[in-house]
Amino acid sequence: MKHLMSPLDFSVDELDRILDLANDMENHPQKYAHACAGKKLATLFYEPSTRTRLSFEAAMLNLGGSVLGFSSADSSSAAKGESVSDTIRVISCYADICAMRHPKEGAPMVAAAKSSIPVINAGDGGHQHPTQTLTDLLTIRTLKGRLNDLTIGLCGDLKFGRTVHSLIHALVRYPNVRFVLISPDELRIPDYIKENVLDKNNVPYKEVERLEEALPELDLLYMTRVQKERFFNEEDYVRMKDFYILDKKKMELAPDDMLVLHPLPRVNEISVEVDSDPRAVYFKQAQFGVYVRMALILTLLGIKVEE
Ligand code: CP
Repeated sequence: MKHLMSPLDFSVDELDRILDLANDMENHPQKYAHACAGKKLATLFYEPSTRTRLSFEAAMLNLGGSVLGFSSADSSSAAKGESVSDTIRVISCYADICAMRHPKEGAPMVAAAKSSIPVINAGDGGHQHPTQTLTDLLTIRTLKGRLNDLTIGLCGDLKFGRTVHSLIHALVRYPNVRFVLISPDELRIPDYIKENVLDKNNVPYKEVERLEEALPELDLLYMTRVQKERFFNEEDYVRMKDFYILDKKKMELAPDDMLVLHPLPRVNEISVEVDSDPRAVYFKQAQFGVYVRMALILTLLGIKVEE
């Protein structure tokens, strides 16, 4: 039985197979419409979510399976003090696979240790968000045609943004990838990622504060929201929240083939006027999230669909 805690739980070859499967699911949805008949997915969300929880549920329904779960800690017995370990033992009796989001780093790993069904980390605190990374990789590979030879700008809250942390872990495994880390001083990427991931893999990167300076050299711009829920005080959040706003004028500085991604939700960091720019692919990215989660569910359940 395999769980998914980090994007590194899959080799590059395994990831390629999941992305190939997701592309096939997009092109031939009927072929997979009953692949999970009789199977149940539990979504255990101790933290708010729109895309991750509902795209997991849509994915399982698209595969002919069923879904159950809770969307907040308050509506589960966590509110009465039940531990994650006890909860997963019980959920293992009810479902075949589960996706868990939790505000505490490592909580899905604690669950996996006690689970008798595959556990998928659907975001743990400021740590990792591996299924967002699968979504991002599928979006980039499908729309850009490659995962190598890319200059990627990561912009915004690089300190608390778990999507950025997971994406860096995944992309350093592809040749000739370099990063431009765009953030205010207070929201810079944590040192452990610079030392243990970027430096260790000899991946070139630079840190800049001005988005305008970075834009002309980028193949991809990955915008992120300032993570209000991870700040210790409101004052710091208010000071930081509008540090970057990507608008039409800034987009004029970017190459014609640069893609703009964002894991969403967006707050103010991308002006709505950018949505109609063909380079803005963040809503397509959300759609890719359904296909890749379908592919992940089939892979973790070990279900093969014949040609
Ligand atoms: N991208 C993402 O994780 O969105 P949600 O928080 O809405 O799930």
